[in-house]
Amino acid sequence: MTRIPIALLVLLLLAAAPVRSQQQQRPFLTEIFPEQLEQQQLQFQQNQVQVELQQVQQALEARPQDPELRDSLLQQQEQFVLAFRDIQRQQLVLQQRIQDRLSGAQTVLQEQPPQPVQQQSQQPQPAPQVEEPFRKSPNVEGSCKTVSGESGTCRPLVSCLSFYAELPELKKQPCKLAVNEFGVCCPPKNRNPAINQPMTAATTVTGVIRAPPPPPVDIPPFTSEQLNVAAANALQRLNERRVLVTSLFTKRILVPTGSAAAWHQELFPTTNETLTQGEQAQKSVDASVGLVNDFNLTREQGTFALPSFSILDTVLGDTCPRTSFCQPHKYRSTDGSCNNIKHELWGRASTALQRILPPKYGDGVNSPRSRAANGSPLPSARQVSVTFTQDVDSPSENYTMLLMQWGQFLDHDTTHTPISRGQMGSGISCCRNGREIENSLRHPDCFQIEIPRNDHMFAPFGERCMEFVRSLPAPRPECNFGPREQMNQITAYLDGSNIYGSSLSTQQSLRTFRGGTLQSQNIRGKQLLPGNPSECSDDTGRSACFKAGMCISYVGDGRVNEQIDLALLHTIWLREHNRIAFELSRLNPRWSDEAIFQETRRIIIAQLQHITYNEFLPIILGRSYMAKFGLSPAESGWARNYDPELNAGITNAFAAAAYRFGHTLIQGNIHGYGKFGNIRENLVLSKQHFAPFNLYKEGALDDFIRGISFQSSQNFDRFFTKEITDHLFQGNLNFGLDLVALNVQRGRDHGLPPYNEWRQVCGYEKARNWNDLEEYMDPQTITRLARLYGSVDEIDLYIGGVSEKPMKDALVGPTFVCIIGDQFSRLRRGDRFFYEEGGHPSSFDQVQLQELRKSSLARLLCDNSDDMALIQPLAFLKPSFLNQRVACASSSIPKVDLRAWAGERTAVP
Ligand code: HEM
Repeated sequence: MTRIPIALLVLLLLAAAPVRSQQQQRPFLTEIFPEQLEQQQLQFQQNQVQVELQQVQQALEARPQDPELRDSLLQQQEQFVLAFRDIQRQQLVLQQRIQDRLSGAQTVLQEQPPQPVQQQSQQPQPAPQVEEPFRKSPNVEGSCKTVSGESGTCRPLVSCLSFYAELPELKKQPCKLAVNEFGVCCPPKNRNPAINQPMTAATTVTGVIRAPPPPPVDIPPFTSEQLNVAAANALQRLNERRVLVTSLFTKRILVPTGSAAAWHQELFPTTNETLTQGEQAQKSVDASVGLVNDFNLTREQGTFALPSFSILDTVLGDTCPRTSFCQPHKYRSTDGSCNNIKHELWGRASTALQRILPPKYGDGVNSPRSRAANGSPLPSARQVSVTFTQDVDSPSENYTMLLMQWGQFLDHDTTHTPISRGQMGSGISCCRNGREIENSLRHPDCFQIEIPRNDHMFAPFGERCMEFVRSLPAPRPECNFGPREQMNQITAYLDGSNIYGSSLSTQQSLRTFRGGTLQSQNIRGKQLLPGNPSECSDDTGRSACFKAGMCISYVGDGRVNEQIDLALLHTIWLREHNRIAFELSRLNPRWSDEAIFQETRRIIIAQLQHITYNEFLPIILGRSYMAKFGLSPAESGWARNYDPELNAGITNAFAAAAYRFGHTLIQGNIHGYGKFGNIRENLVLSKQHFAPFNLYKEGALDDFIRGISFQSSQNFDRFFTKEITDHLFQGNLNFGLDLVALNVQRGRDHGLPPYNEWRQVCGYEKARNWNDLEEYMDPQTITRLARLYGSVDEIDLYIGGVSEKPMKDALVGPTFVCIIGDQFSRLRRGDRFFYEEGGHPSSFDQVQLQELRKSSLARLLCDNSDDMALIQPLAFLKPSFLNQRVACASSSIPKVDLRAWAGERTAVP
């Protein structure tokens, strides 16, 4: 009777084998627990047993005469029935275990037995019901001892401020959060981390760079008459310029539609206001150039002496920016004005980028630097890119594509530098038939890039000219003569301006005016961003590109459609806004649409800021930098860091060089994964710009979330994918643009001083020769730089920055840490509405603040996916033993309890 049929044994073995090998082939298991895999195996076995059983029963029904055969069949029948029941029993157990997992009642650290826990935390409370009055959230935290014996607090990973640098250490001492859930024993925040930044005279204790004083220079004795003549001549030149621009338009010298250059220019739509400001600024640039030429001023005089003269008393006086009186308010303005009460224009949309170091133009005021100090020409930007970069696959062991994506999203929240436009906003063209257009037909803002004769990519097509148009000039804030400045046409603040827009008209075009929500498209019952068919649509014309808040006018802005993962993150934020708006309106049924909208926006911006300062920046700048300059979020209570004398505006070096560090992280392919870790999408970057249509497919949103939270970003180094150095915006054409070359050229266009000068302002020794760089760069990189540049003093800032080895606990090297750190310090201390600040009409109360500190990227993705069950709590980090995927319901991914906003006093009717 105990004989197990051989057939069954074979079947059971067969059932297990293919699943194991499948498991090995899988890159990862995104959405299934090990129990679910076992469940699949059991199901397979059960089917087989059933088939066997049926066969035996059929044989018995045939009433075999041979008594031995009948006995054997009866035995087999019994065994199959037992096996069947056993499988059913195992299935029930598995089902229970899966249920436990999904409700978050499973350990995060299964592979490692928990250490003795110092203090049990409280039992978890049932999931909050919106209607219930707010009680302080169930405290899942308790005290514990760290591995080194310090007293700490047991927290979910994502709430432990030191989690990145000390993750492996912290995980050695798991502690108990709630029933069967483990966190890490988090050391006290004020413990001094290892600090490896040099204390320099150039940076202040806040990380804000101290600008050096201008050098002494002879001020020419201009009379007001001479200044006025220069201003009047500038008006004349502007008229001539208008005539030329009109004639270019009439002669159809425009960037060809559908070309890579046209898509590039699509990234820079401009409002009428921006264009008007640009034209006003052009007048003072021309007047300054006139003074330099007519009076033979030196480059230094152009840069440092001209700003001593105001344009207010000249015929250009009406071009000076006007300001008005500001009142503190609970909600931010849309365009960023009046964030600083005394300086209305600081950080406002359509104002000039700030300078830390004065610009270095060829003529001191306007023309891009094109020659080295010894007079030899600088290498062309394409030459720099080709010689310096390599396409080597160097995926990060630690970071997911979310790191790259968050970086780009923040860029689009804080920076949008418009470029010059032709008649009626048309795209300017500087090259024709592979050569630069002749002088008389070239727009004055052309700054095309020369392509070397032997270029591996472009030479076969006879291309010697890459399109490039200069950034639009911006009015100088002090309204004086002087060098050309560039504009930021969106608000500088980290205020979700790419979700909500930087002008009232844009914001209104994105709202529904019902229940505080933003507009969306309903696709199979799920929300996607509203369509923007005027921008682009798929071949069938059924799926349109998307519209999001960085748009300047009613038609939307191409940046959201630039690549699919960017559109994905926009969609997540749109859903989060509408999710919170819905919850707030349930909690506060009397609130108006306006009140719900403004309160939701306030919470969204706070979450965006918290994730940035808590999760993103410690990776980019390093935890020691964050701690040293007080950038990390506090554990409790309000912060009092606001400095009304600090301008939060975006600096030119940040926008045109340092923050472009993210381009080295880009992957050539974008992945989407199914629930079982199977690759469902593998998109070639250069073919999917302005074509985010895959997001319309059923289940695609979750596929791309799985992809972006699993696929590695590339490392920070001088390796860039060819997708952006040869094929940027290529689509189905033969060649595209080169993003590294564009970055170098943009730095020169903006007059950024070279790398060595930034080293100095950041407190590092200026390199005197190539050997001096050995501590900061690897030898091959230095060799390539030396091949390109005649001297260490000529290295373009972008190239020098990406040449540097990362700092010890940071992603980028010291010069970029310094410039990016300066900016994020400004964005924190110079923002009166910063979410942690207390004492302002806009401040959150302490309970709300504590809730906001629970925000995390993992929670954001969980709450706004279609149907995703699992994610690793630290979503910028690759899933690993230390950062295992857990159920979205797990308390390892804390939730912001919105009941803290029930009864909140709004500041609008
Ligand atoms: C697939 C991803 C990306 C693509 C295709 C892309 C493409 C571009 C392009 C074409 C420009 C304009 C270049 C010029 O003409 O000057 C640009 C600008 C810029 N990018 Fe990216 N980028 C990507 C990701 C990122 C990331 C991850 C970051 C930062 C972490 C970043 C930061 C910036 C910044 C700061 C600018 C200047 C913005 C401005 O001043 O308006 N980008 N990018």
